[in-house]
Amino acid sequence: MLKKFSGLVKTVLYGKQVPFSEKLIELQGDEHLMRKIIDRDIKELIALERDVYFGETPWTKSAFLSEIHSPIPHLYICIVTKQAEIAGFIGSRLIGNDTHITNIAVGTAFQNRGMGKLLIDEVENFAIMNDCATLSLEVRLSNTDAQRLYRRLGFSARNIQKNYYTEDNEDALDMIKHLEVR
Ligand SMILES: CC(C)(COP(=O)(O)OP(=O)(O)OC[C@H]1O[C@@H](n2cnc3c(N)ncnc32)[C@H](O)[C@@H]1OP(=O)(O)O)[C@@H](O)C(=O)NCCC(=O)NCCS
Repeated sequence: MLKKFSGLVKTVLYGKQVPFSEKLIELQGDEHLMRKIIDRDIKELIALERDVYFGETPWTKSAFLSEIHSPIPHLYICIVTKQAEIAGFIGSRLIGNDTHITNIAVGTAFQNRGMGKLLIDEVENFAIMNDCATLSLEVRLSNTDAQRLYRRLGFSARNIQKNYYTEDNEDALDMIKHLEVR
């Protein structure tokens, strides 16, 4: 009863969490599984971050844990290979009528095969199911490869956030995609 009530309070306060059903995806002849991130993935996600960010790990274990257990509607999913290796992941959460992409990374061995696009498409579906008007993200000003992909997927630059990245004070480009309201 208490659980039911607290579920109702969360729904009223934050909105409804849309369930995510895992699915098989095929990329360049290889079959992978797209599924929700669970606690025991975090160690591997941090290793993946280390791989793509030259040894740095922008997110800590506690940052991942608080996001994947947040009462705010969110989608944290990963792509897992047949060998049970996490190839890439994305995280997002609802803020008002915007779905904000908080984190995205694809392992260096798996980049440029379309995984980034698939992950963003999935978050876009989640945003549409939650009646969001926009999708948004921040990206390092120097990360022009990622920016090119985002522009190709329909994002455009909104503004620059000065000194956004605390580690080195680099500015962030704030990007947004307007979604078709159903
Ligand atoms: C940014 C990032 C997530 C993109 O992931 P990805 O899986 O490489 O993305 P995709 O494969 O969907 O797209 C990348 C490029 O490969 C191309 N591509 C996709 N499938 C392809 C294929 N089968 N053959 C050749 N090229 C392909 C895409 O067209 C895209 O080209 P573009 O950059 O000119 O638009 C990844 O590079 C990454 O993790 N980078 C390091 C971390 C990072 O920068 N994160 C973003 C923080 S905001």
